[in-house]
Amino acid sequence: MTHEVPHLSRSMQGRVVFITGAASGIGEASAHVFAREGARVALSDLDGAGAEAVASAIRSEGGDARAWMLDVTDPVDIVAVIGEAASHFGALDCLVNNAGAARLTALEAPDFDDVWQWQLDVLLTAHQRTLRAALPFLRQSDAARIVNVASTEAFGATARNSAYVAAKHGVAGFTKAMAVDLGKEGITVNAIAPGPVLTGLTEKIPENDRNTFAHRRTALRRYGQPVELAHMILSLCLPAASYVTGAVIPVDGGMTARNA
Ligand code: NAI
Repeated sequence: MTHEVPHLSRSMQGRVVFITGAASGIGEASAHVFAREGARVALSDLDGAGAEAVASAIRSEGGDARAWMLDVTDPVDIVAVIGEAASHFGALDCLVNNAGAARLTALEAPDFDDVWQWQLDVLLTAHQRTLRAALPFLRQSDAARIVNVASTEAFGATARNSAYVAAKHGVAGFTKAMAVDLGKEGITVNAIAPGPVLTGLTEKIPENDRNTFAHRRTALRRYGQPVELAHMILSLCLPAASYVTGAVIPVDGGMTARNA
C-alpha cells in the first residue's frame, strides 16, 4: 500500500503573527525570528516604547512589523488592539501568548491576595481574553496556530511561588482545553514550557547563582537564550505543524528529564 505524502509548508512567508510581551526576552526574540522567516509581526507590550523599538529594529532589517502598547490585563484594549492589528495586516494566522512577570511571595505576606490576583490576571486570564479576541480572525486562516508560553512551573513548583505556579499550571490546562474545543476547526493550540532562560525576568539573579542552578539542574548545564525558545514557538506555528495540538512542550535544556 502506498501513501502519498502531502505537501506541508515549512514557510512562514506572509503569515501574520500577534505576540504579547514582545518588548523583551522571549517575545522580542520571537518577533525577530518570525520576521526573519518572512512573517508579518504585530508586537504588543505594556512597554509600548520598548515594543516600538523592537518593531523599528525589525523594519530596519527589511522586515514587516508594527507595535502596539497593550496591557494584557485590560480586556477592552485586548479587543481593540487585536482588531487593529488584524485590520492593519489584513489577516491573523498566529497568536503567541507570551507576556509575563513574576513575583515570589510567602503565604503569610500581607499582600498575598493581591499578588495572587495579579499573577492570575497577567499569566492566565489574559490568555483566554486574547484567544477570544483573536478567534474571529484566526478562523479565516488556513493554518491557524496558538502558542501559549507556560513554564516548567506548569509541572512542578519552586518555593514561595504559588501564584505563578498555579497560573502556569492553569496555562497548561487551558491549552489542552482549547486544543479540544478548537480541534474540529483545525486550529492548533500548544504551549511551550521554558526552563531557565536569560531574560528580563531572570537578569537580576546573580550570575553565579544562575550558573550554579543551571549546572545542577539542567542536562545542558546552562541557561537558555531567548532565541532558543523563539525557535520552538516558530516551529509550532508552521503550517506543517498541523497534527501537534494540546501539547505542553518542555524547552528547558533537559531540566525536567534530569533527576540528579
Ligand atoms: P521578560 O521580562 O524579558 O519579558 C516579558 C515581557 O512581558 C516584558 O516586555 C514585559 O513588559 C511584558 N509584560 C509584563 N506584564 C505585562 C502586561 N501586563 N501586559 C503586557 N505585557 C506585559 O521575560 P521573559 O522571560 O521573556 O518572559 C516571557 C514569558 O516566559 C513569560 O510568560 C514568563 O513567565 C515565561 N517564562 C520565562 C522563564 C525564564 O526563565 N525567563 C521561564 C519560564 C517561563
